[in-house]
Amino acid sequence: MADNSSSLTVPHVVRREDYRPPDWLVPDIALDFDLDAAATRVHATLSVTRNGDHDRPLKLDGDGLLPLEIRVDGNPVAADLWSMDSGALVIALPDAVHIVETLVEIAPQDNSKLMGLYASGGLLCTQCEAEGFRRITFFPDRPDVLSRYSVRMAADKALYPVLLANGDPVEQGELPGGRHWARWNDPFPKPCYLFALVAGDLACNADRFVTMSGREVQLGIWVREADLPRTAHAMQALRNSMAWDERVYGREYDLDVFNIVAVADFNFGAMENKGLNIFNSRYILADPETATDIDYDGVEGVVAHEYFHNWSGNRVTCRDWFQLSLKEGFTVFRDQNFSADMGSHAVKRIEDVRILRAAQFQEDSGPLAHPVRPESYMEISNFYTATIYNKGAELIRMMALMLGPERFRAGTDLYFDRHDGEAATCEDFVRAMEEGGEIDLGQFRLWYEQAGTPHVRALLTHDPVARSVTLLLEQTVPPTPGQPEKRPMAIPLRTALFDPETGENRGDELLMLTEARQSFTFQGWTAAPILSINRGFSAPVIVETNRSQADLAFLSAHDDDPFARYEAMQQLMVNVLVGRIGGQAVDEDAVIAAIRNAATDPLLDPAFVAEAIRLPSEAYLGDQMAVVDPDAIHAARDALQRRIGAELEPLWRDIHARTRANAFALSSVAKGARKLRNTALLYLAASGAVDGPTVAFGQFSEADNMTERQAALATLANGTSAEREAALDIFYNRYRDDALTLDKWFQTQAFAFHPDTVDLVEELGRHKDFTLTNPNRVRALYGAFAGNQWAFHHPSGKGYRLVADCIIALDKLNPQTAARLVPPLGRWKRFDEPRAALMRAELQRILLEPGLSKDVTEQVSKSLE
Ligand code: ARG
Ligand code: ZN
Repeated sequence: MADNSSSLTVPHVVRREDYRPPDWLVPDIALDFDLDAAATRVHATLSVTRNGDHDRPLKLDGDGLLPLEIRVDGNPVAADLWSMDSGALVIALPDAVHIVETLVEIAPQDNSKLMGLYASGGLLCTQCEAEGFRRITFFPDRPDVLSRYSVRMAADKALYPVLLANGDPVEQGELPGGRHWARWNDPFPKPCYLFALVAGDLACNADRFVTMSGREVQLGIWVREADLPRTAHAMQALRNSMAWDERVYGREYDLDVFNIVAVADFNFGAMENKGLNIFNSRYILADPETATDIDYDGVEGVVAHEYFHNWSGNRVTCRDWFQLSLKEGFTVFRDQNFSADMGSHAVKRIEDVRILRAAQFQEDSGPLAHPVRPESYMEISNFYTATIYNKGAELIRMMALMLGPERFRAGTDLYFDRHDGEAATCEDFVRAMEEGGEIDLGQFRLWYEQAGTPHVRALLTHDPVARSVTLLLEQTVPPTPGQPEKRPMAIPLRTALFDPETGENRGDELLMLTEARQSFTFQGWTAAPILSINRGFSAPVIVETNRSQADLAFLSAHDDDPFARYEAMQQLMVNVLVGRIGGQAVDEDAVIAAIRNAATDPLLDPAFVAEAIRLPSEAYLGDQMAVVDPDAIHAARDALQRRIGAELEPLWRDIHARTRANAFALSSVAKGARKLRNTALLYLAASGAVDGPTVAFGQFSEADNMTERQAALATLANGTSAEREAALDIFYNRYRDDALTLDKWFQTQAFAFHPDTVDLVEELGRHKDFTLTNPNRVRALYGAFAGNQWAFHHPSGKGYRLVADCIIALDKLNPQTAARLVPPLGRWKRFDEPRAALMRAELQRILLEPGLSKDVTEQVSKSLE
């Protein structure tokens, strides 16, 4: 199979407005796999029915496939009745109903794109979303063609003792020559992107779950034998997710088995195939020795995400890929709320907003900005973005806020009931919210259409004579590619006013900003109140206010909304840092006092404190500047961090000592203590205290868990001490045979604030343990590096060259993962002209590469516009 056969020189643009229902439906499909890593034969039997009154032929998508046999109603097809059209098989059919059979041969072991059927370790596994099924067999590869699947697999029994597919197992048996077979049936009609099979030598963590109607479901998490002890957390997360979806959405699981398989080579997080989820092993495997608390939370969140797709994605699927956020935005919203319920709502919200700002706001202000429901694409794989996922989740969150819990639940009930078994659209979802929730979402729909992050200016003015205050709100939505003009959006802003004398919150209100400029007046204020706005981050917007540093300091100590309190603290820090970068005189003492207050407040959750006292990231500071100056940002942030470290040194020592635990626990309390402890270590190291490296090395050596070990390593990696090299060596030697943990060794170095990071990354790219064939390893090195603003934007341009070289080399193997590295280079307009020129030059160099995939072509050419 020629792996790059689908690459086109001029990629074809697919447009939302061109949607037409399918010409042919496929109510049933039987697949017969003769599995072998070098040569797998796939025999497909499709029952096809003409959809509507037309005489168009049957078109079955294919990518790199050759038909070895084609039969219609049992007879070979005459040569003049079929043809190939850019990979697809086209067959002229006389009647309304036929049986079509095809036979193809594919080579899983040569499939480096990791789309379709591929080999990972000794396993054979599949990934079909979005358009991988066409690399397995000829089929109408679009989500609005739903079929019942019957799958038979035959394979060598010693190499592949376990054979899994979607649905329920029905039959199995032995074959001559040491082979065996199994058949699985999935009774629920599904689009082909949800097809999956796995064959391999796997061990099972087996458990059961009794659903709310009393049915028993067999749960299985399948991994390599040696990894079984690391599956307990994923299993607990699965059972919790199943119970949560029953309790919160009334949704019950619908098959007798639910299987999850972990694989080492995977292009993204995980995949919700019906009854057979396939996961990147980093989102299944966890134990204290190798997983950080962030990893544990990642496992819980992704297990939940994929499980929740059984309703939001599988039972109700997408009509076309422009509707991707229908399932992804909604499912992210569901997994965020699940994780909040399992831990802290406040901390989860802060984390989610931090991710949104770091990934989605950057996307929304760059050349790849697109609406939550895009209008066009060249390669759909490029649209699995923070906008579709995370901004999409914010849209659902705003609707849930405007409706309130009861009416939102009425809306989701109506949505699931009305569209069960269908391929639906974002519009269907909004309509169900309107009808079930009895609300008009007319203007709100703009959130699906308009790209770009809205800016809101909030000016509060006090009239002491009238004893009133007026809040003037102005919104603008910046132009984005293809959308020069924007209309005003409907923006829900949770707002409160605080009495400056009593510190009291006089009531939370949901203000709906619907016009470009709008005023709200509040009576009964003798003294000017303090404004708390966009509480809980009620809308995914950038808010600019006329609040003083004193107001922000007040809110950072007194706001009763934890997100708003965190936000006030961050804004306080941003103002000081941006002022410092701009050469203004700034009052750092206010920041230090606010940090001291938060860190010594016994009533605050330590996990919250750790979030609140952390300085905003270099990238976030860059977002606040007209032209990003990576060196000035790094210098200013580093200097403030040192000063906070030095002035509060006794406090950091005290926190570090008192948060030390005797034994590992995974409770929220223990996780919070570790998070705060690691932050204290960071500040202690920044203080310049001579024993900083010793304390960090002590934590590194004594820790009984990866959360503290990796944080200590990261702290050391920022410096130049002898302990840095010692810790890196110890870590490498301890984990060299554990791929997921070795990823942390690469990642920590690529992410370090170290003057030589760019050279170290170049060396690590030649390390014997570095490989382009494993996406986790690529992301650990180059993905982390491209997110290290100071290092990546080294004025020499060397960082750009390293990433461009990686994109060029990786594109030949795995275009999807290569394309994910393009956006950091594409942000050149945000930087000074010398850097911008260097970045553009690398993009142009990539574009000249012969045989470039359409994945990378789309991202690079859009980035150069
Ligand atoms: N549906 C999967 C999930 O979010 C992700 C599939 C990603 N596919 C891709 N081509 N990037 O759960
Ligand atoms: Zn998803």
